[in-house]
Amino acid sequence: MALRFTLDPQLTPVLRGQLVSLWTDVTNAGGAVGFVPPVGRADVAPEAERHYTAMSEGRAHMVAGFDGDRLAASTFLTFNTHRLMKHWAWLYTVMVDPALQGRGHGAELLQAAERAGRDLGLEGLKLSCRSGMGLEHFYARAGYKEVGRVPAAIRVAAGDDRDDITMWLPLT
Ligand SMILES: CC(C)(COP(=O)(O)OP(=O)(O)OC[C@H]1O[C@@H](n2cnc3c(N)ncnc32)[C@H](O)[C@@H]1OP(=O)(O)O)[C@@H](O)C(=O)NCCC(=O)NCCS
Repeated sequence: MALRFTLDPQLTPVLRGQLVSLWTDVTNAGGAVGFVPPVGRADVAPEAERHYTAMSEGRAHMVAGFDGDRLAASTFLTFNTHRLMKHWAWLYTVMVDPALQGRGHGAELLQAAERAGRDLGLEGLKLSCRSGMGLEHFYARAGYKEVGRVPAAIRVAAGDDRDDITMWLPLT
């Protein structure tokens, strides 16, 4: 079943709780969304709070995918503060509920984010992902191109350094 996607859903206490649960579950299943497992809700909640603040200040937008009333996928578009880079945004925290991965929802999420970027008048989306998980291929299937790579810039653990891969999707 396809998810229902919404740009900037109302940040109710229920949705905030669901986002923290999703982010925690995705991380603990091995996802590359800013943390290394194991994490608890208390680790993730402050980071989610920072995104809410950015949204309330108009610096970020949330793309949310719902399975019924439940948050099943999400990502954030975050604007640049630099005055010369306001025509594109960063895509952060692309994630799908571990129980629903591998069914095309990630691709739907990227399509929804692309639509959001166009609706917001942006000319490109940029993201960073770590090597060693095939993520660059996931993004390449959605039209993103690798435009940069910093070797061993992400230290997942002692002795486990990953490249920081920059991907770019033009929206023009
Ligand atoms: C990455 C993620 C969002 C993909 O979502 P998904 O629902 O599993 O992906 P989809 O089923 O939509 O896959 C779309 C396509 O990408 C490919 N793909 C997905 N994940 C892939 C991976 N890790 N490596 C290589 N290809 C991948 C699929 O095979 C599919 O290809 P196809 O079009 O030829 O069939 C999801 O696995 C996830 O949430 N991972 C944990 C969080 C994470 O690491 N996010 C990345 C942040 S940079």
